[in-house]
Amino acid sequence: MNRFSMTSLFNPERLGCTALLALTATAALAIGLRTEAAQAQAQEIGVYSGRHYNTDKQLYQQFTARTGIKVRLLEAKDDALIERLRAEGKNSPADVLVLVDAARLDKAADLGLFRPMPSAALLRDVPLSLRDSKGRWYGLTRRVRVVIVNPKLVAPGSIRTYADLAKPALKGKLCLRDRRSVYNQSLVADQMILRGDAAAASWVKGMTANVTKPVFTSDTPLIRAVGNGECGVGLVNTYYVARMLAGDSGAADQALAGRLKVVFPDPAHVNISGAGVVKTSSNPQAAVKLIEFLASPSGGRGYAEANNEYPLRGTGNNPILKRFGPFRGDGVSAEQMGAKNRAAVKLMEANGWP
Ligand SMILES: [Fe+2]
Repeated sequence: MNRFSMTSLFNPERLGCTALLALTATAALAIGLRTEAAQAQAQEIGVYSGRHYNTDKQLYQQFTARTGIKVRLLEAKDDALIERLRAEGKNSPADVLVLVDAARLDKAADLGLFRPMPSAALLRDVPLSLRDSKGRWYGLTRRVRVVIVNPKLVAPGSIRTYADLAKPALKGKLCLRDRRSVYNQSLVADQMILRGDAAAASWVKGMTANVTKPVFTSDTPLIRAVGNGECGVGLVNTYYVARMLAGDSGAADQALAGRLKVVFPDPAHVNISGAGVVKTSSNPQAAVKLIEFLASPSGGRGYAEANNEYPLRGTGNNPILKRFGPFRGDGVSAEQMGAKNRAAVKLMEANGWP
């Protein structure tokens, strides 16, 4: 409403002329301030992210430079962010929720934290198997759970599939993260979908029988244990090995990782990090713009490559990932894996995954 339409609401015959002008000016000023405030708000979005890589911030800055939309970032552990959003309810300042792993995206969707956002750009840029069929979340980067081998202890050629990790020949040589690792849960869900519950159960049993060391709580120490010969083989995400090879954690880790052989099981289990618009977002249009930017071939490549992840399509230009060589994904969709998470955890418990 502008100053002129405001004026038309009042009858100048009934009000003193000076009083009317003062009232009109005050009202117009108030409306003007409210409009400006609304516009300023429209140019800022809150992002809660379970990714915690410094390189992500550069991508958010690029997004702001392109669109004028500022990003207020809160980074924390995925599950803590999910709990925080639930507690904040409609008062949450978050517009976008970024999570790592299909199982967590599926969990957030089940809890009703996302608002389905149809977007032609996202349907074009995010492959079908890497997004929610209801449009609640979209994959942004890919990571592969691979086998690392210490060639002094195990012949790399003896590992071709995940099933090979259950072979009795690896008794006392396998290192695993514990079953609380969502990465392992998604891998088990993936194998249940591909091979059926019975085959997946005997595979888990076989691997558990091969485990030598106490289980690990993160991928990096597990890589070091394989590199140091405490174990002959282990299961980790590609980007942890790539980070070490890039020298991010020092020359000793770089040399250690260089002695390992990275084996991509064929076919390989591919997981994602992804994002959705928060249900209570006050600015869903700006929120979806950010997700579109991060999923686009230009924005998404940066988001993935800087953290040594794979972009949504192809291998990208990261020299370390190029050195790893090509892999063949197993085609299990992120949505299928997410839906199978609870059953996977039960199967791991029932078959002794520590
Ligand atoms: Fe990770």
